[in-house]
Amino acid sequence: APHFSHRNDTLHAEQVPLTQLAQEFGTPLYVYSRQALRDAWENYRTATEGRNALVCFGMKANSNLSVLREFMELGAGFDIVSGGELARVLAIGGDAGKVVFSGVGKQEWELRAALEAGVKCFNVESEAELEELARVAADMGKVAPVSLRVNPDVDAHTHPYISTGLKENKFGIDINTALSVYARAAALDSLKVVGVDCHIGSQITEVDPYLDALDKLCHLIHALQDSGIRLHHLDLGGGIGIRYTDETPLLPVDLVSRVFETLERNKLGHLQLVLEPGRSLVGNAGVLLTSVVYLKHAEAKNFAIVDAAMNDLIRPTLYDAWHDVEAVQPADPDTPPQSYDIVGPICESGDWLARNRTLALRQGDLLAIMSAGAYAFTMASQYNTRPRPAEIMVDGDSYRVVRPRESLQSLFAPELEALQGRT
Ligand code: LLP
Repeated sequence: APHFSHRNDTLHAEQVPLTQLAQEFGTPLYVYSRQALRDAWENYRTATEGRNALVCFGMKANSNLSVLREFMELGAGFDIVSGGELARVLAIGGDAGKVVFSGVGKQEWELRAALEAGVKCFNVESEAELEELARVAADMGKVAPVSLRVNPDVDAHTHPYISTGLKENKFGIDINTALSVYARAAALDSLKVVGVDCHIGSQITEVDPYLDALDKLCHLIHALQDSGIRLHHLDLGGGIGIRYTDETPLLPVDLVSRVFETLERNKLGHLQLVLEPGRSLVGNAGVLLTSVVYLKHAEAKNFAIVDAAMNDLIRPTLYDAWHDVEAVQPADPDTPPQSYDIVGPICESGDWLARNRTLALRQGDLLAIMSAGAYAFTMASQYNTRPRPAEIMVDGDSYRVVRPRESLQSLFAPELEALQGRT
C-alpha cells in the first residue's frame, strides 16, 4: 500500500516514521492515513460521477469522529445501525438527509431519534419493525421514509459470519413475501415507501453476487410498479472487499457501471443508486502498531508475545482472518528468521493476531498489523482491563491524536464511584 511503505528501511505512514509515533504515543497504537481515506473515497466518487448515486459510509467499520468528518467533507452520507451511530453523525454536524438507517433491532428511542433528525430512509427488516415504525411516526405526527431490506437469497462466497444474503440468515425480508409487506407499508399513512434495499455480505471479491441480487430486485421493482408502487432509490448495501494479502477484489467502478447497465436494460434508469461501503473505504487506511514484549520458544512453536491483543483486534480470533504483519524496522542481521505465532497477553488461547509468520524478531521490535482500519478499533473491548489504544491520524508529514489512549482510571472510575456511594 502506498500510504504505508518502507522509506530508508523504516515503515512509514505517509511521511511519518512509525517508530516516531510509537515513541511519542506508545503501543499498541492505531495509525490511520488521511490520504488513504481520501483515495478510497475517490474510487467511489469517480465511479459514481455523473450518475444519480449516493454513497453512505457504513460507519460501523470505523466510527472515529475525525474519520467521519473527513468523509462528510468529501460528500459522503452515512449508513447507521444504531442510535449511537446517529448521535456520532449529528455530533459532527452531519446531514441526516444523507443517512440511511439499517439493522434488525431498531428500538423505539432509536426510531424516534432518527425521525426527529429526519433521516433519508429506514431500511426496514421485518413486518414487526414496519408496524412499530408506523406507530412511532404517527405518534410524532411524521411520515417515515422506508425501504424494505429484502433478502435475495444469493451466496456472496464469503465467510459465513459475514455473509448476510442467504435464506437462513436473520437479515431482511424474504424477497418472495416482500410484495405483500410493501402493500402493507403503502397502506399506512405514516409511512412513505421510497426504496428497496439489500446487503448480501462483506469482503465480497466478485461482482456476480451483486448482479444476481440486482436481477432479483429488478423483478421485484417491476412487480411493485405493476401494483402502483413506484420507488425512488435502490440501495445495494456495502460489502466490497479489500486486499488483506493477495485478494483482487472488484472495484467500485466495475460494480457501479454494471449496476447502471442492468438498471437501464430493465428500464429502471430513473432510480437513484445508494451504496453502503464500509471496509473498502477504511480497511487499508489503518495499521495497528504493536511491540514485541517477549519471545518464547516452546517445544512445538515459537511465540512472539506482543502488547496488542484480541481485545484490540478481534478479527483473527473471530473470523480466522488474515492480517499481514510487517516489521517496522529492518531485522538484525544476526537474528535468524523463524516461524512465529503472534499472540497477545490475554488469558485465552484464542488470543492471537497472526500465525506461522516467518520473521526475524527481537524483544522490543515494532510490528505493524496491516489492514486494521476497518472493524478493528470499532470492535475493540477492554477485556482484561486493558485500556483501548490511542488513534492517530497522519496527514503528510504531520499527525494528530484523534482519540487519546484510554486511561486505567477511566476504565473503572464509574465503578469506584458506585462503590464509594455504597459505603
Ligand atoms: N450495510 C449493512 C447493512 C451492513 O450490515 C454492513 C456490514 C455494511 C453496509 C458495510 O459492509 P462492508 O462494506 O464493510 O463490507 N466485522 C466483520 C464485518 C461485518 C460486516 C457487517 N455489516 C469483519 O470484521 O469482517
